[in-house]
Amino acid sequence: MEINILMVCLGNICRSPLAEGVLKSKLPSTRFRIDSAGTESFHIGKSPDYRSIKVAAYHGIDISFQKARAFKLEDFNLFDKIYVMDRNNLKIIKQLAETSEQRDKVSLVLENEEIPDPYYGDEKDFEMIFGLLNKACDKIKSDLIN
Ligand code: 4NP
Repeated sequence: MEINILMVCLGNICRSPLAEGVLKSKLPSTRFRIDSAGTESFHIGKSPDYRSIKVAAYHGIDISFQKARAFKLEDFNLFDKIYVMDRNNLKIIKQLAETSEQRDKVSLVLENEEIPDPYYGDEKDFEMIFGLLNKACDKIKSDLIN
């Protein structure tokens, strides 16, 4: 059976597109559907931030085709797991959940650690975030495939 995983940040242009690309690079597309979304709608339809595209490409991952979208309530039913980047996203998405089953699908992508918002940072911050997401996705993979 296919497993559906959603990565969520604020704008869906910096962190969650990278998270989507990193996890896709680790899991077979035949068994896993991976997508990303933002809690805010100000960047809908845009490509990922050029700094995310660049750091992904540096690590051999193409995320340039992605387009930002906003999280929608239907996502609670479409996805089995919803990973959020920081505690602010966690609060927002958990508040949108209408049932405990929906709420239980939501967790921080890195347990006990936030993926900090890099929007006002520089390329070094994007490289640091890539490292954190790589670690997070290795853990997700080992939890799913064993
Ligand atoms: P993201 O980063 O949530 O990782 O996509 C941000 C993107 C845009 C903004 C903030 C964070 N913004 O304020 O426009």
